[in-house]
Amino acid sequence: MSEWTEVADVSAIAPGEWEQIDLDGTLIAVFNVGGEFLAIEDICTHDGAVLSGCPLEGDEVICPRHGARFSVRTGEALTPPAWEPVATFPCKTENGKVYVRDDRWD
Ligand code: FES
Repeated sequence: MSEWTEVADVSAIAPGEWEQIDLDGTLIAVFNVGGEFLAIEDICTHDGAVLSGCPLEGDEVICPRHGARFSVRTGEALTPPAWEPVATFPCKTENGKVYVRDDRWD
């Protein structure tokens, strides 16, 4: 099973904010959505734009390049021109830290 990787202190990612990490070559964005930490692969499935740093509306992120919306909870592509979902990753908090792991090959 994949290992948990520390992302940041819980207090370092305020609600509506995010932190990006490179986990073994995969860019992952960890968002604080109302106190809940949710992680997606930080690459738009339409044409490869980085999604973190873009407007977060509730649990949806809006791609800066062509405006596709993704659910950061499910990874689902909610609006064109993206059709394929982004990968999602489990998060946890422990001892004041946020952790993520890439479970795609567990
Ligand atoms: S690159 Fe994200 S919508 Fe086109």
